[in-house]
Amino acid sequence: MKILVIGSGGREYSLVWKILKDNGDKNEIYVAPGCGGICDIAKCIDIKPDNIDDLLAWAKCNLIDFTIVGPEVPLALGIVDKFINDGMKIFGPNKQATQLESSKIFSKDFMNKYNIPTADYIKFNSFETASEYIAHISPPYVIKADGLSSGKGCFVIHNPEEAFEITKNLLLKKSLGKAGSRIVIESFLKGEEASLFVLLDGKNYKTFLPSQDHKQVFDGDKGPNTGGMGAYAPYRGIDNDLMENIKSNIIEITIQGLIKENIDYRGILYIGLMLTNRGPYVMEYNARFGDPETQALMPMLKSNLLNLLIKTSEGNLQNETIEFTSKIVCCVVFASEGYPKTYKKEVAIKGLPFENYENHLLFHAGTIKKDSKFYTNGGRVLNAIGVGDSLKDAIENAYEITEYVFFENMHYRTDIGEKGLKYE
Ligand code: AMP
Ligand code: GLY
Repeated sequence: MKILVIGSGGREYSLVWKILKDNGDKNEIYVAPGCGGICDIAKCIDIKPDNIDDLLAWAKCNLIDFTIVGPEVPLALGIVDKFINDGMKIFGPNKQATQLESSKIFSKDFMNKYNIPTADYIKFNSFETASEYIAHISPPYVIKADGLSSGKGCFVIHNPEEAFEITKNLLLKKSLGKAGSRIVIESFLKGEEASLFVLLDGKNYKTFLPSQDHKQVFDGDKGPNTGGMGAYAPYRGIDNDLMENIKSNIIEITIQGLIKENIDYRGILYIGLMLTNRGPYVMEYNARFGDPETQALMPMLKSNLLNLLIKTSEGNLQNETIEFTSKIVCCVVFASEGYPKTYKKEVAIKGLPFENYENHLLFHAGTIKKDSKFYTNGGRVLNAIGVGDSLKDAIENAYEITEYVFFENMHYRTDIGEKGLKYE
């Protein structure tokens, strides 16, 4: 088969890696636009994920059999509708379904309508009413831009001055443009976070094992939110009873709601959970695989990934099983110093190419290759993957990679996975 993967990060690297692992050279894999490391394992083509017209034209011209969309932006632009209207096969939800991620207001209203547990919220489009509201509530304040903002649109704030400032920036100064012209202020949820990926074919679903991301840039969950600084799977804070609760009170109610709204959701439904002492709450939905959780999940997925994605897009998941090995996987992100704000690019990376072994893998994200050498080319640069029979071993194996691969001013959290050790 000829396969096109859209995206360029660690998530896309791990999807390509898994398809190659399952099927060897049986498929021809193209990635648009890919990154330095991805171009070593697949063929890269220079089309950006938001250029959905050129992606369709290229896919048709090159007789692509199946396209897999990694990031949210092309989904929100309607790439799936466009490909399907042209008779092309593609994995991901259509534009209407993607609103569960692309509009916080849409997803909060949806959860509210179908009684899916989520934080209480109020919507605002005027600074005056939002600031008046903030003056009457107590911290912490959770302020979210309505639209897509690459993980930079959610603020958890502990003092009122900063909350006013952020609200002003979003609603008056339009710091995030149209994405922040409407906001949601919601109540703060206390608990442990988990990510749950659900393959949904419109009506049937299969769940991945739960995983846990580390969103803040510094150890101890300090500093601003990022796209994710590391993850591990499985996350063992969800036992069988809690999983049954999540299935019946969140996943199945969400699917029934989607069907009632005439939304044909085919793709990954990523449920960002907060496990509170009042039960599991949905913090957010995403319409795609999470990054870096996917990097932790792919090495432990036993089932054939491509087959699952094709069956999902065909609405044919009912007879499939999704199986995992009993291994634990930890992924530590090597980032450029300064990320998620400004950072230097084109810093030489030492220790590449890294030779993957069974328990030590390196997945590229923001890298570029010039004259056979690798340089940094993004905020999140590399993903060090440790595999083990225990979480402790997986963590140790991931961090061992720092001894072999590094670049000047490389930043990584040193506590990825620690929260999970209490469940061992
Ligand atoms: P989101 O953009 O909705 O994924 O939120 C990003 C991060 O902000 C989450 O992973 C949480 O760490 C935090 N967060 C979001 N909503 C809440 C909430 N209602 N209460 C506490 N923390 C939250
Ligand atoms: N890991 C967070 C995300 O993919 O949105």
